[in-house]
Amino acid sequence: MTYAYSKIKESRVTQSGEILFEDVSKTFESEAVSAVDGVSLQVAAGDLVVFLGPSGSGKTTLLKMVNRLYEPTSGKIWIGDEDIQSLSINDLRRQIGYVIQQVGLFPHMTVKKNISVVPRLLDWEKDQIQSRVAMLLDLTGLPDTYLERYPNQLSGGEQQRVGLARALAADPDILLMDEPFAALDAINRERLQKELLRLHCKLDKIILFVTHDVEEALLLADKIAVLRDGKLIQYDTPIDLVTKPKNAFVEELVGTNNILRRLSLVSIESIIKAKGRLLDKPITMDQAMVEIPTIHSDADLRSALSLLLSSGSDYLRVEDSFGTDQGLISMEDLREMLSSNQLIEKKKCDEISD
Ligand SMILES: Nc1ncnc2c1ncn2[C@@H]1O[C@H](COP(=O)(O)OP(=O)(O)OP(=O)(O)O)[C@@H](O)[C@H]1O
Ligand SMILES: [Mg+2]
Repeated sequence: MTYAYSKIKESRVTQSGEILFEDVSKTFESEAVSAVDGVSLQVAAGDLVVFLGPSGSGKTTLLKMVNRLYEPTSGKIWIGDEDIQSLSINDLRRQIGYVIQQVGLFPHMTVKKNISVVPRLLDWEKDQIQSRVAMLLDLTGLPDTYLERYPNQLSGGEQQRVGLARALAADPDILLMDEPFAALDAINRERLQKELLRLHCKLDKIILFVTHDVEEALLLADKIAVLRDGKLIQYDTPIDLVTKPKNAFVEELVGTNNILRRLSLVSIESIIKAKGRLLDKPITMDQAMVEIPTIHSDADLRSALSLLLSSGSDYLRVEDSFGTDQGLISMEDLREMLSSNQLIEKKKCDEISD
């Protein structure tokens, strides 16, 4: 038993929604080296975990072992208290939605038929299917006039939304997503990333999300598993990954020296926490001529910087979620926070509005 394995085992909380990878390895028969090599990690209930790493690092292989498209050569995967090997493939896959880059919609079926494939297989009542499809269409931001369209009458981004709706159809506990947005243009990708965040904040499901796009990983993840040559190199929150990379590989991968990236992960709350209540600073004559913009204490430091620069003000007024004035912050505060170790990660779900 390796150290990491026993450590995870000891700290294991038997929660129904949690996923545990226990020293999981996969060696394909034709290959000399392992595609996945001794990976142990624990995914907490409701977390969105990103597998991040270069091409060939084992991300897809690790993901496919969760719904048993691949079987591990050694090690175990648990969902809650159940070793997935002990479940029938059908029972296992019923609780898992799967979204891939090449959506895989059935071309001869309408949007409605595509989304309802699994509920129909599960023999749901017609009314129940209809209301589920309508709800999912709404949830994924598609108009109901699309119900009778065929996949080739949709854009790539719209097809991807249908793919997501289909994966959510039978209300799975877990969603596996393998580079789902990789083929989209930048605008559609960003839109769908925001949609996914909104969905995740609302639905509270475990999502395992594969990407090699660092920005995407930092935006979406509660925790990021960095993989290289099949091995788990670091498993941490975005902010810890960026500020405390374990080695030069992670440092380079996540761009520890990228200041804007760092700022975008840190909440203004960090400044309040570090300083106690912010003081109202003396306002200069020049400053008195400029209106001081207000920013929310949950916003990130990158937004604060951009507001400082665009408004020409020396200060921003900080308000908390109740609209209470928290005092002023300046560029100097941002500078100080960059070298601080008291950073508070911005809350993903706070930015999401309905
Ligand atoms: N079915 C297979 N048979 C043999 N080798 C495989 C198979 N699937 C993957 N591999 C090998 O396993 C390693 C990991 O592949 P995997 O697809 O998991 O990487 P990845 O991190 O998802 O890469 P990418 O970012 O390119 O999708 C690679 O060396 C790959 O060639
Ligand atoms: Mg892959």
